[in-house]
Parts: sequence; structure tokens; C-alpha cells
Amino acid sequence: MKQITSFEQYQQEYKRSIETPEAFWSEQAEEFMWYKKWDSVLDWNFDEPNVKWFIGGKLNITENCLDRHLIQKGDQVAIVWEPNHPDAETRKITYKELHAEVCRFANVLKRNGAKKGDRICIYMPMIPELAIAVLACARIGAIHSVVFGGFSFKSLADRIQDADCAIVITADGVFRGTKDIQLKAIVDEALETCPSVKRTIVFKHIHSDIVMKKDRDVWWHDEIQFVSSDCKPEVMDSEDPLFILYTSGSTGKPKGVVHSTAGYMVSVDYTFRNVFQYKDGDIYWCTADVGWITGHSYLVYGPLLAGATTLMFEGIPTFPDAGRFWQVIDKHKVNIFYTAPTAIRSLEAMGLQYVKPYKLNSLKVLGTVGEPINEEAWHWYNENIGKKNCPIVDTYWQTETAAIMISPLAGITETKPGFATFPLPGIQPALLDEKGAELSGNNVEGRLCYKFPWPGMIRTTYGNHERCKEAYFATYKGYYFTGDGCKRDEDGYYRITGRVDDVIKVSGHLLGTAEVENAINEHPDIVESAVVGFPHDIKGWGIYAFVICENERKDVDSLKREIIQTVTKYMGAIAKPDKIQIVKGLPKTRSGKIMRRILRKIAENDFSNLGDTSTLLDPSVVEDIKAGAQ
Ligand code: WT7
Repeated sequence: MKQITSFEQYQQEYKRSIETPEAFWSEQAEEFMWYKKWDSVLDWNFDEPNVKWFIGGKLNITENCLDRHLIQKGDQVAIVWEPNHPDAETRKITYKELHAEVCRFANVLKRNGAKKGDRICIYMPMIPELAIAVLACARIGAIHSVVFGGFSFKSLADRIQDADCAIVITADGVFRGTKDIQLKAIVDEALETCPSVKRTIVFKHIHSDIVMKKDRDVWWHDEIQFVSSDCKPEVMDSEDPLFILYTSGSTGKPKGVVHSTAGYMVSVDYTFRNVFQYKDGDIYWCTADVGWITGHSYLVYGPLLAGATTLMFEGIPTFPDAGRFWQVIDKHKVNIFYTAPTAIRSLEAMGLQYVKPYKLNSLKVLGTVGEPINEEAWHWYNENIGKKNCPIVDTYWQTETAAIMISPLAGITETKPGFATFPLPGIQPALLDEKGAELSGNNVEGRLCYKFPWPGMIRTTYGNHERCKEAYFATYKGYYFTGDGCKRDEDGYYRITGRVDDVIKVSGHLLGTAEVENAINEHPDIVESAVVGFPHDIKGWGIYAFVICENERKDVDSLKREIIQTVTKYMGAIAKPDKIQIVKGLPKTRSGKIMRRILRKIAENDFSNLGDTSTLLDPSVVEDIKAGAQ
């Protein structure tokens, strides 16, 4: 397995990857199993946008994740599963077993009418069957659309409808800390508005009483009895879609980011091996849920492509206490640990007494992802978890990029706390000023774009190519625009400064303000709302909701509680507002557009410099809002 082993080599590889990208990426693609190699490497045009890699190639990604490893690693553990409750039994699944399970479930999908190209929604707990379901879809060429188990019925229904899914794979429920969540009941509610779904396949996990709908719902354990563990992989074209993953945008409707088969595989595999400096035999743990891109790329596909042992954890960092992550690391002798800054900050806040009982001496590499990591949290992670002995990789990327874009290589790149450092080979970032001119040299700050394609990049937004163009390729002609601000310091190190658009990063989760507003507006007494972010010590950003109430309600506290319940019910607990302010009006321009800039300032408690309010329809609302600010 080829890997970069020194900074000089990184620099050479980087240079080569920019000068001859096609040769560079072909070389990375060579080591996989192909039924047929590609005819040409790349065809691209960012205006349409049209991006194709490894054109004419034929493959199946599961053959590269599973079959390829069977001879040498058949008996090696592929997935270690750690349950929610520390006393419940761990599961270990070898490559041989995983291969058999994936094939079996692929046959179950076929038995239930699934075909190549069908969209299948997966709404499951963090259990091995989630990975099995994902891989089984890929085995038969069905396009998986995993929806995070923390989303509620409305978010689930929106995503199922948008992708026109025929099948939903789910479970009776999930354990989360001391609670259990009845997933199947949420699915039932969602499916009331999803006529495309003809079948749900239900895994029995928490053994709760659920209602099975006749002619629609079948049990996983029943279905599996009827099939063999033999399933020839479907021959896929390099550019056939592998999956859809929804991400939030500036409208209330989430965007279905579509990823291809071969390009995704090559980018994810290359970055996994190089960024984490994975060595054969390492135990690797990514704490992200498979419902997010991090779980797709660096819990399932990346580690399995590399033949690694990947750990999957059902529970939460604070159950039974805030030492759970560290206990799991010791228990399974985890070597590489990849988590989110939010988790680090919240565990730091709980105190060192939860870290002290554990040795943590198996750790070699630490990683973070999802939002900028503040220096304090970085040092805490470095000192208390890494014992100043483990390089930290601050990995910057997005759902749309599929794979890590800017990041240190563990132990190779000299790090600076708070900096994602340098672009990986094959990645060509550009910082643009507001007018779209590229900023050259160091010590500059601008909008982060990419000027050249990489294999794993987004191909389209499902069912609406125009939206893909609008969202990513229209702001700056000839560039992919990330939506992030970024600084390149005097040494050429990149530091992400955060979102510059209408989405908020709450605990590392990207939430569209419009989506949260829609959920709030489901409350019968709310006529209108506006949501903005405000800096939050643990979550990075919190949600501040300004709401207009129809019938004046005296019981403000219970109204706020109801609003929170409404958001939880329709969208999920991750979108609960941290602050709610009831207002008489919102600052709108004469054309009716909400001036979010003003609301953001107020939410940040910065009343100076609210800018020109004279263009507002009713400037007096600003005074009212200031007076009631929290
Ligand atoms: C947005 C993408 C990356 C996969 C998980 C999130 C922010 C991500 C970092 C980082 C600073 C980061 C950006 C980006 N972000 N990683 N290391 N440093 N910011 O994927 O939900 O698509 O979110 O997360 O704002 O655009 P996502």
C-alpha cells in the first residue's frame, strides 16, 4: 500500500498532482479491482457543471471493500461494534462474515424488488446492519440515501420524497444513553406522505412493540432466511451514482448531493490512507454517525477499502458518564481516533476526572472534523487525550467534496492549532475576494473555492442539476465555491474561518435556517420566524429564533417549550433553538426580504454598527428587538 511518508514527498506529490492530474489520479486508481479499466481519465467543465472521472471504467465498490480482502484478511475483524450500554455485548465481524452478510442482504433487497438505479432510504441506528445495508445497496447498484437517525419524520419524509425511494430499511428503534427512540414509529408517520415507498425492511434491535403494516413491512430476520450468501456484484460504470446524501442549503428543501462510484472510491481511499497514515492492523474509530458524510467516507467506505478494522459505536459520549469515549478507546485498543470539536469541547467541560481513569496508550493519531477547532480545545485534546504524543489532523472538507480536502498528514505535516494546514495532493484551492478575483500569495483572506476537479466531487443535486450549478458553480465563474471563508497565513497555512452563507454549523451539523424556520412555523401560534446563529461555547454555533406570535400568549415560557417540542417533532432534536425571542415584527426591506445581518448582530449581542436601517419597511422593529434581546 503506497503512502506518503515525508513532508518532502508530500510536496513532490502535490506538485506532480497539479502538473499532471490525470497521471496522478490514474496511478491511485490502478490498485483497485476493475472489470474494465477506464478509456480516459477526466472530462470536465465547471460551467454546466460536468465532471467525469475514469470514463468507461467498470467496477463494483463492494468488491473493492470486501472481496478484494478475502484471501489475505478474511479472518481479520472488519467491524467492531460497541453497543450503547457498556455491559451489553460487543460484536466483531470479520471480512469473511461481512462479505457473506452483505451478499445475503443484497439478495434480500433483490427479493423485495430492488434493482440497479433504484433509490433506497436507510434510516437506522448505528449498528453493523447499517453498514451491511449500505454495502448491500452498492452490491446491487441501488443508490443509497442514508438519513441520520436523529432526524424526525418531516425531515425523513422530505428526503424520501425528493429521491422517490421505493424501499426504506429501518429498525424498530435505537438506544441512546438512557433513552430509546422508536424509529419505526417515525418511519410510519413519514410514510403517510410517501406513496413511492412500497416496502420497508425492519431490523429487530431494541425488541420494542411495533406495528408491522401488512403488505408493506417485512422483518430483516425473516427475509434473510430465504436467501443465499452468494451475490454477484452488479457491474457499475465509473460514473454511475453510488449514493445520495442530503445536506442543508439556503432554502427549506435539503439538497440531495449525488456521488459517483469510481471517483468517490479513489478519493476516499487515498485520503484515508494518507491523512491518518493508516498502518495494517490499526484499530480505527470514527465517532460520526453513518447518517453524515463523515460516516459514509471514514467509517464505512474508507476503512473498508483500506482493509482496516473500523469501530462503530451506537451510544453517546456521556453515557454512562463523560468517560465513555476514553473507556471504549482502552477497551478496544483504538489506534486512530477521529471525532468532532463539539464533542471535545463538551467533554473538556465535564472535567478531567473522566479522562484520568484511562490509559489511552494505544492512541497514535487523533483527528477532528466538521467545524473549526478553537485553540483551547486543540490543546486540551493534544495534552489530555494524545498525551502530546499523537499528531492531530484537523481535516477540512464537506458533504459535497466526499473526501478530505485540506488537512495535515499525520506526523508528517507540522501542525498549527486551528489550521487545517495544506491542501492534499490533487486539490487546488483558491481564495477569492468579494468581486471574484483570485488572491495570490500569502497572508490573505477570502472565499474558499476550488479551481480544478478531484475524483470525489459532487456530480449533481438529485433531480435538479440547475440547483447544483446555482449553489456551487454560479457564484464565481469557473470555480466550485465552498461557502466558507478562509485565511492563508504568512506560511501558506490554511485556516477556515467559517460559513459565509445562510447555513449554521450547530455542533458540527449543518442546518439550513429556512429548514428550522419551517419547523418552528408548524406551531399553530407562530406566523413567522427568522433563525440566525450565535457563537456558542460548546456547540460552536447556537440557534437564535426570532418568532412572531399570532394570538398574544401570556405564558411565554410554555410557548417557548412548545416551540422546542415542535422543532424536535418535525425536524429532530439537533435543530432545537437555544434562544427564542418573541417579537412584534422582523426587520424587512421594502421588498419583504428579512435583513438577517441585523438579526445576526443582535443575536451576537453586538448592538453597535447595525448598519443602515433606513431602508427597512419599519425601522422601529429594530428598537423593539434590541430591547427584548437575550
Ligand atoms: C462544512 C461542511 C467535513 C465533513 C463533515 C461536515 C465545516 C468541516 C471543518 C474543519 C473548519 C470545517 C465547513 C464546511 N467544516 N470541517 N476541519 N475546519 N470548518 O460536512 O456537513 O457538509 O459541512 O463544515 O464550514 O463547509 P458538512
